[in-house]
Amino acid sequence: MGPESCFDFVKLPKTDLHVHLEGTLEPEMLFRLAGRNHIPLPWKSPAMLREACRFRDLAGFLAIYYKGCEVLVTEQDFYDLARAYLERAAADGVVHTEFYFNPQLFCRESTPLAAIMRAIFCAMDEMRDRISSFYMGTVMRTRPVEEALRALDELAPWYDRIVAFGMGGAENGNPPSRFQRYFDACRERGFRTCVHAGEEGPAAYVREAVALGIDRIDHGNAAIQDPELVRLLAERRIPLTMCPISNLRLNVVNELSGHPLKRMLSRGVCVTVNSDDPAYFLGYASDNWAAVHRALDLSGAELRQLALNGVEASFLPEARKAVLREKIKRVLPSA
Ligand code: ADE
Ligand code: ZN
Repeated sequence: MGPESCFDFVKLPKTDLHVHLEGTLEPEMLFRLAGRNHIPLPWKSPAMLREACRFRDLAGFLAIYYKGCEVLVTEQDFYDLARAYLERAAADGVVHTEFYFNPQLFCRESTPLAAIMRAIFCAMDEMRDRISSFYMGTVMRTRPVEEALRALDELAPWYDRIVAFGMGGAENGNPPSRFQRYFDACRERGFRTCVHAGEEGPAAYVREAVALGIDRIDHGNAAIQDPELVRLLAERRIPLTMCPISNLRLNVVNELSGHPLKRMLSRGVCVTVNSDDPAYFLGYASDNWAAVHRALDLSGAELRQLALNGVEASFLPEARKAVLREKIKRVLPSA
C-alpha cells in the first residue's frame, strides 16, 4: 500500500493508548464551559484559541493546556468532556482507548474528587457498547514525589476501575528515576505503569524507564539515538506509544518524514500510533495514522503490524485482545 493509496483509516479498528482526557477539550466546548462557569479566558473566540495552538515546544503547549483545564469545574463539565471524547473516538474507529486523567490539576473545593470520578466513569459505562475504555491515573513530574504518592492514595476508592498509572508534564530535568517510590507503590498496588520519556528528554530517560520496570513508555522518540536501547526495547517488547502529530506540533520532529516510528518498527520495537492531546494538536487517532502513512510510506504489512501492536500493548484481557486482532486482520489481511 503506497502513500498515494487513500486508505480510510477511520475504518481501521484502532486502539488509542496515549491520550489525555484534558487534551480532548475542543475549543468550542472550552468556551462553552468557561461561559457557564464565569471563567475569564485570554482568547476572544475558539478560532483565536486554535490560532494560539502553534506551539514552539512542550512548555508552550503545557501553558495553554493547563489554562484550558481551568474551565472544568462541575461534575457536568467532566461528564460532558468524557462523553464527547468517547463519542468522537468511537466515530473515528477507535475500538479501545486507554486515556489519562490527572486529578491533581483540579481544585477540590469546587468539585470533590468523587464527583469528577463519577462523571468520567458514568460516560465510560454509557459508551461501553460502542468503545471499550480504560482510565489511567497520571501525575505531574514537576511536583514532589510525595504529591504523586498522595494522588495515588486519594484514588484508592476507585482502584477497581483503574488499570494503570503514568507520569507527564515538563520532561527535561525531571527524570523518571526521581519517581521510583511512586512507580514502586503503583506496582505494589497491582497497577501497570507508564511514563512519558524521550519526548523532549534524552534517551537516558527511556533507559531509566526500562530500569524502573515500566510496562509501557509514552513517546520514547529519543531511544532511536541509542541502538543498544532500541535492541532492548525490541527484545523485551516494551511498547512505545508514539504520537506523530503531537511530535510535529511540539517540534519534537521537524517533519514527519523524519519521525523514528518506521525505523523503530523495522527493528522489532512494539511501536503504536496514538493521539496525545488531539484537540490542541488538531488530529485524532485516524489523522495520526493517515499522517504517518503519508509521510513514511508505510506498507500494508507495516500498518497491520502497527495495529496489532496497539492490541498487544493495551492492558486488555487476552479474550478481548483476540477479538480485536480478528477485527484488524479482516480489514488488513496479510498479503
Ligand atoms: N501532558 C499532556 N500532554 C503531554 C505531553 N505531550 N507530554 C508531557 N505531558 C503531557
Ligand atoms: Zn502524553
